[in-house]
Amino acid sequence: MKKDKVHIHWYPGHIAKAERQLKEKLNLVDVVIEVRDARIPLSSSYADIKKLLGDKPKLLLLNKADLVDKEELKKWVSYLKETTKSPIIVTDAKGSKDLSLVVKHAVELAEPKIQALMAKGLLRRAARAMVVGMPNVGKSSVINKLTKSSKTKIGAKAGVTRQQQWVRINPKLDLLDTPGIIPTKQDDQLQAVKLAFVSSVSENAYSPEPVAGALLEMLSEGKYNQAVCEYYKVNELSLENIATARNWLIRGDNLDTERTAIYVLKDFRDGRLGKFILDELPSAEDNDCCSD
Ligand code: G4P
Repeated sequence: MKKDKVHIHWYPGHIAKAERQLKEKLNLVDVVIEVRDARIPLSSSYADIKKLLGDKPKLLLLNKADLVDKEELKKWVSYLKETTKSPIIVTDAKGSKDLSLVVKHAVELAEPKIQALMAKGLLRRAARAMVVGMPNVGKSSVINKLTKSSKTKIGAKAGVTRQQQWVRINPKLDLLDTPGIIPTKQDDQLQAVKLAFVSSVSENAYSPEPVAGALLEMLSEGKYNQAVCEYYKVNELSLENIATARNWLIRGDNLDTERTAIYVLKDFRDGRLGKFILDELPSAEDNDCCSD
């Protein structure tokens, strides 16, 4: 990949603020529902998540499953189950109606904490959960799905700021109605570029041409090359070839590669280029470095 030509800018001040806000919310809950983008199951995870969560139980959702290769996804589910030791649930928060499995697992994961509170003489209470994840992975969509059938707002609790609303999902589970935003940051530029592919990075942080160029290069190296070439009616994937095929010109006879880049990224994000997982499944030897 043309890593040297792509640069994603991170804003350390934003990251520190996002971490602080996330920590405040995490203090309120017994269990965390982490949402990742199934197209990049590793790149949409945060290196410091373990530090942020401490020993809080976590349920992992691989969302946007409708946009990925199902066979590949099965392998990822096995891999992540093994390495994270968390329950993994595949979701399509835009389409599928039923997220009851998420509720069931969240209640089960929180039960030891509830039992511990009862052992101290407190009355049984509903478990408290929140949804966390990087921008655009589908956190709000998941919350909307989970809270759709239950609009019982139960208001602020002691120690909880006014803005934090809880929704009673069922007698055993309360959910914070706003997600915790995990800062978008990857030290590895390759992972960072993948976050830009799926719109988890603000468009102000990169220019479209090198990012779309990197996407085409990545697609051309894998098994998806032929299908994408056919989609764009080109022999080889490049912004120049696609601009030529579409006859997108600017100022005289120059190829409009900027317009092409914006379209390529949109085509990918909307699933028009096919169903892909862009992270490489780590081999058994890599597991130590890549699990969380
Ligand atoms: P966030 O809170 O994590 O930032 O994400 P949010 O739920 O706002 O979702 C971001 C975009 O991803 C939305 O699209 C949403 O519809 C879409 N989305 C969420 N879950 C899924 C999924 O499982 N599959 C697919 N294909 N898309 C999903 P948008 O274009 O911003 O809005 P719209 O399409 O809803 O109008």
